[in-house]
Amino acid sequence: MSPFFRELASALRAVPETMRRVFHPGAAPAGDPAATRMRRNFLFHLHPIRVRPSTLTVSSTFALGLCTATLGFLLLVSGLLLMMVYAPDPARAYASMQDLAFALPGGGVVRSLHRLAAHGMVLCAGLHLLRVLFYSAYRRRELNWFFGLGLLLLTAALSFTGYLLPWDQRAFWAVNVSTSMLEHVPGGDGLRSMLLGGPEIGAESLLRFYALHVAILPALLVGLLALHLWRIRKDGGLAGRDNEEASVPAWPHLVLREALVFLAIVLALTILSALWDSPLGPPADPHRPDNPEKAPWYFVWIQEAVSHSALAGGVLLPGILLGLLALLPILDRRDDGVGRPFSGPAGRRVFLATIAIALAAGAALEAWYITTGGWPAHPDLVNPSTGMLALALAAWIVAGVWTGSVRLGMFGAIAVLLAAVLVFTISGVCRGPDWRFFWPWEEWPGV
Ligand code: HEM
Repeated sequence: MSPFFRELASALRAVPETMRRVFHPGAAPAGDPAATRMRRNFLFHLHPIRVRPSTLTVSSTFALGLCTATLGFLLLVSGLLLMMVYAPDPARAYASMQDLAFALPGGGVVRSLHRLAAHGMVLCAGLHLLRVLFYSAYRRRELNWFFGLGLLLLTAALSFTGYLLPWDQRAFWAVNVSTSMLEHVPGGDGLRSMLLGGPEIGAESLLRFYALHVAILPALLVGLLALHLWRIRKDGGLAGRDNEEASVPAWPHLVLREALVFLAIVLALTILSALWDSPLGPPADPHRPDNPEKAPWYFVWIQEAVSHSALAGGVLLPGILLGLLALLPILDRRDDGVGRPFSGPAGRRVFLATIAIALAAGAALEAWYITTGGWPAHPDLVNPSTGMLALALAAWIVAGVWTGSVRLGMFGAIAVLLAAVLVFTISGVCRGPDWRFFWPWEEWPGV
């Protein structure tokens, strides 16, 4: 039997043991004074007091987790300021946005800061996931990986619930089309009316989105983030190539670097917010749909995939991507290559080959779909989404058998699905009226 299938079978046999380890209590303090100090100070439960020097280099984390956390902090501060002006009521919400832009000194800057930080946080959380993924840093950090997936979903949910609040045309119809995509998920109809407080978007929806956005989701995010940071320490610090390396005190080595990144982000974002005004379209009009109705950019790949097929694009593609991410730390049981980009040269080759093939295949499938309108006889069976899913399965088996490694097989499959997300996002962004494709330099016909 191929080593790939032997390793896969052994990983499946070991699932109960892996799941037990997911909840393991973490490394014991071993009686050193640093550990005693840490037990006495709450902050030291979240922040390390000693770190391995190799985890301080830029290329070990690209500071992406820290950037995400800093943006989260800026969102919290600017959000509290916005709450003093904003009214979650359809009759007043839009006017409070205008007050912020035109009447209150500095109001527009705070709004732009909040908006830029929100987009930045979604982007940084996604990039941080990719860093952890392709450095195999989920290995022996299974629980923290699951906490991380929860954080990513919460970040997207926070950004999405905030999208409706300006109550302009773009916000209204973006939320309308995004929540309509839930209809394709089993049980999604009930979820949609629970979220909206009725069959359509209205005053109840605005109040629910507001409560989720300013109270429920931030509380969950802060709680889960505390667990995430605590768990990094419990797992013995960041994943590194050399676990035997002597550690150095976090002050000044880590703390000064963190302060530098924090200040650089705060400064850059404040300057950008002063130079850039957040857009505010015409007020929401429930009787005059936007054409096109477009989801926020981080969901537009799902909208594009749903336009191929509700089942393949709306359920199978996102479901399988999330499922693969959740299964990764359970099926990958190797310790070699942890903390190294792509787990070493073979992994880098697998990644580069699969991403290049998948980008070309994705672009070709999209071009075929856009020019011909697909295959009307079997729209759910033959379309760009099913094509990319089939390619992911092929990449999983070919890369796995070729390298004899479950991890590299999973890297191959995930790389194909990432390429699908990228191609569908670009395609979705280029869609114009009636969901027709326009290059960015082409003008849309008047609607
Ligand atoms: C709100 C979103 C998140 C924040 C604020 C956050 C914050 C952090 C920070 C500050 C670190 C330490 C240093 C670093 O890697 O930059 C870290 C590490 C880690 N994060 Fe996140 N994270 C978030 C989302 C995620 C996601 C989406 C995942 C994956 C599903 C994840 C999994 C991990 C893991 C496994 C580690 C340990 C990495 C290692 O040992 O090298 N995190 N996170």
